[in-house]
Amino acid sequence: MTKKLYIKTYGCQMNAYDSTRMADVLAPLGYAESDVPEDADLVILNTCHIREKAAEKMYSDLGRHRLHQNAMAAGGKRQMIAVAGCVAQAEGEEIIARAPYVDMVVGPQSYHSLPELIAQVERHGESVVNLEFVEEAKFDLLPESLQPQGAQAFVSIQEGCDKFCTFCVVPYTRGGEFSRPVEAVLREVRTHAAQGAMEVTLLGQNVNAYHGLDAAGHAINLAQLIREVAKIDGIQRIRYTTSHPRDMDEDLIRAHGEVEKLMPFLHLPVQSGSDRILKAMNRKHTVAEYIAIIERLRAARPDMAFSSDFIVGFPGETEVDFEDTLKLVETVGFASSYVFSYSPRPGTPASTKAEQVPDEVKSERMQRLLKTIGTQQLRFNRRMVGSVQPVLIERLGRKPGQAIGKTPYMQSVVLENAVDRMGALVDVAIAEAYEFSLKGEIAVSGQQLGFSLKKAAAISA
Ligand code: SAH
Ligand code: SF4
Ligand code: F3S
Repeated sequence: MTKKLYIKTYGCQMNAYDSTRMADVLAPLGYAESDVPEDADLVILNTCHIREKAAEKMYSDLGRHRLHQNAMAAGGKRQMIAVAGCVAQAEGEEIIARAPYVDMVVGPQSYHSLPELIAQVERHGESVVNLEFVEEAKFDLLPESLQPQGAQAFVSIQEGCDKFCTFCVVPYTRGGEFSRPVEAVLREVRTHAAQGAMEVTLLGQNVNAYHGLDAAGHAINLAQLIREVAKIDGIQRIRYTTSHPRDMDEDLIRAHGEVEKLMPFLHLPVQSGSDRILKAMNRKHTVAEYIAIIERLRAARPDMAFSSDFIVGFPGETEVDFEDTLKLVETVGFASSYVFSYSPRPGTPASTKAEQVPDEVKSERMQRLLKTIGTQQLRFNRRMVGSVQPVLIERLGRKPGQAIGKTPYMQSVVLENAVDRMGALVDVAIAEAYEFSLKGEIAVSGQQLGFSLKKAAAISA
């Protein structure tokens, strides 16, 4: 008998990956994923603790799920509720204290134990908590079988972080830096390729710190791993995220100029354009070093496009510091970016600093930075108009018949009447550009224009 599993994912792509793996763990028990929470036998909230709002959202969503749980109980059925992810790791037992109807609390390193936890809850009827930290064991204990992910697959290659930026909870919720062995990664990519994936995104909180062991027991870096992944039949596009500027080594920069399958887009968070603030954040890189990395990447691959994360209102950030951030944005020219308002997180060094920035100042700076970034994004998107881009069609659009795909530069392209081409990599003539999307038409077959480093260079010029 199949049971219904509803998973809601918050936070980063690592969490999105973990959600797919939880579904893999539960599939042998008869759980099939469903989009509907109301009648699910098991609801999993895979949570994020990065900012206060993210954690609070989880609690308000839990309240809603409790109503479904009660309604099901009235009909004689049991709905189990599990809280997974980084809030689970950070708050543990407190979640059960605040929401006693939660059946399971399971951390990001222990979700392979879900079947046992479910059995325990069924047997004893009491809530259970598992927050063990066994990075290596987790991957060893996960099933080899994977649910097909479509044209685009995520593969986690690295977890955790040793960098301890003073604002960030990740080193506490995900633990120390750990890289998966090369063979395990390649096996997972091969399985996805065999199931039809054309694009793979290699994931890690510090993905470019990757140093997994190969079959001979030698540590290899991300550039070498990418070259191995590029040899896998069927894989046409490779991406990786999230990178830290400090780990952008020469090998990886060179790979961008040499590996055709490696996409010319990099998410490289800088956080601030002020050296003073970067130092207080413990980022261990300067603005000049960041710009130098961007220049080297552009020298290796001229059409390279970039996105970043920014935090506004970090404790002690002055108007001058903030203007330095605007200057950095002007200097680099980003294809897109995320802007976050600094959120004090319990247990992190920055949260207890005296010079907290008032909320009004944070939101005013956020608006200004978003405006600058929006202008750049539109400018970048407009440059595509009139060009032909290879687009991987990944998902349905909002209107009937619409499908949405991605250019090599991570731009979303809306295509009319293209639903039957789902999962295909097609050449698209770009006709219109907006701040957050492009519109285009699939080039007539036989007119396949292809994509090459040479053509990319022409676009960037
Ligand atoms: N490992 C990645 C990303 C970590 S979290 C990296 O090192 O870049 C994703 C983003 O959330 C960060 O880049 C940062 O911009 C933002 N962030 C993290 N902690 C935050 C906090 N306390 N307040 C506001 N934004 C935060
Ligand atoms: Fe957090 Fe910094 Fe580690 Fe990124 S590098 S996960 S921002 S501590
Ligand atoms: Fe959030 Fe945890 Fe990812 S805190 S951003 S889900 S690593």
